[in-house]
Amino acid sequence: MSNVEISPDHGKPVLSARNVVKHYGGVRALKGVDFDIYPGTVTTLFGENGAGKSTLMKILSGVEQPTDGELILDDESVRFASTVEAQERGISIIHQELSLAPNLSVRDNIFMGRELRRAAGVDYAEEARQAAALMTALEEDIDPLTRVADLRVGQQQIVEIARALSVDARILIMDEPTSALSANEVQVLFKVIRDLTARGVAIVYISHHLEEALEITHHAVVLRDGSMTAKAERADIDLAWIVRNMVGENFDLGSPPTGHQFGDTALSVQSLTVPDASNLARAAVDRLSLDVRAGEVVCIYGLMGAGRTELLEALAGASHSSGGQVLLEGRDITYLDIAQRIAAGLVLVPEDRQRDGLVQTMSVGRNLSLASIGSFVRNMLLSRSGERGIVDDSIRDVRVKTDGPAAMIGSLSGGNQQKVVIGKMMTTHPRVLLLDEPSRGIDIGAKAEVFRLLAQRAAQGVAVVFSTSEVNECLSIAHRVIVMGRGHIVAEFGPDASKEQIMAASGESVAA
Ligand SMILES: Nc1ncnc2c1ncn2[C@@H]1O[C@H](COP(=O)(O)OP(=O)(O)OP(=O)(O)O)[C@@H](O)[C@H]1O
Ligand SMILES: [Mg+2]
Repeated sequence: MSNVEISPDHGKPVLSARNVVKHYGGVRALKGVDFDIYPGTVTTLFGENGAGKSTLMKILSGVEQPTDGELILDDESVRFASTVEAQERGISIIHQELSLAPNLSVRDNIFMGRELRRAAGVDYAEEARQAAALMTALEEDIDPLTRVADLRVGQQQIVEIARALSVDARILIMDEPTSALSANEVQVLFKVIRDLTARGVAIVYISHHLEEALEITHHAVVLRDGSMTAKAERADIDLAWIVRNMVGENFDLGSPPTGHQFGDTALSVQSLTVPDASNLARAAVDRLSLDVRAGEVVCIYGLMGAGRTELLEALAGASHSSGGQVLLEGRDITYLDIAQRIAAGLVLVPEDRQRDGLVQTMSVGRNLSLASIGSFVRNMLLSRSGERGIVDDSIRDVRVKTDGPAAMIGSLSGGNQQKVVIGKMMTTHPRVLLLDEPSRGIDIGAKAEVFRLLAQRAAQGVAVVFSTSEVNECLSIAHRVIVMGRGHIVAEFGPDASKEQIMAASGESVAA
């Protein structure tokens, strides 16, 4: 093991896990982990999907109880029976899966269970004032009375962050806080994190954006298969160190598939207009036209609010367009619904996979085969063997770490749930495959695998369109990069474009 011991000048840990073990039935999620958190610093926890990161954080914050081992807070052995008990001791967590109540306002979500009271009852005005102050600190223009269901996923993530901040914790755990944020929003969060550490708050940070995490961290710890494999100080590590310790090999996101000719136009978008649900004065997608040929991989890049998700959802039939046409291999599909479009050969891997992509009460296997279930129905009977074959294939293809197809979807780690959604859409054998931020939440190995699969599909003649907020991903397998801004295509590049060119075209400030 290449352990570098934390040097003693960081003072004493404020919170420690000692030999923590966690079993879920037969699954050994943590196999005896030691973990320390220091005041005024950021400790990042790296590891593949299913390594045990969220499990360890849930134990530190009272969501779960350890099967064995001990927690030490300020030199005292502690047990948290609930998140409320952990909160009372100053520990707050931002969950990987959004845990907001969609029908409540931003204000009510932030103060849920901890309402501010005065003699006459709940002090809603003060709650709204504090919620607005948190939004200002996070530089987000969100009215505290907006219903959470009406916010974009990224904005919901901001609310989740605001709620954790409102607790005024000494220890703040952030389990993938930035998976739905744009680059600018990440920088705002980092500013907030630096303010907190300057005030002595101890932070634990988890992210699959490895470069991003390196920017903010002081200490790094790597988990692999429920055990700690390495820990080190920021000054002693780099990207290669993280990847080596996470997976033991290096990954390349791939290159555009070559050696095949593009076919005819598979997807033709003609002057498509999609209204903006939150602002009727403008269009989310404004008379946008785009042709994608069979076998071509197109990446859509743009800042948050550029209209990427709205475009992809309208193409999939998940939302209504107010003008224009969509043609699939020459056939007008403008008026088909989602199911009809899937049957016609166009599918979308949605942005909000928790909400749109999975049925939480079903098994991994059922979730995987759900999208293509029609093709397993033979003479009104469900062909079990057909279903099983395809499920086994997709579990292997996208590297889902699971006990097997019968496991419940909720027992999978966050990243593995994401992979199920991708696998599920792949089983429908689309002619046009749309993916909204396909790499969100998945580890570097799985990312490489997903991009390899996309390239393979393209080589077989599928038209692939994916959106991302990571320029590197655009430049990996795309034949063409389209930059969106305010509902329009503002620039278009070939595979040889530079990172800086693409970012500049999107209006993003390019770091020197
Ligand atoms: N409620 C549960 N029931 C059964 N198994 C579970 C449960 N929660 C987690 N696991 C298993 O524990 C292991 C660790 O999961 P965990 O969520 O901690 O991973 P992670 O490191 O956070 O991964 P990711 O990067 O995908 O979020 C996984 O194998 C997962 O399937
Ligand atoms: Mg997790």
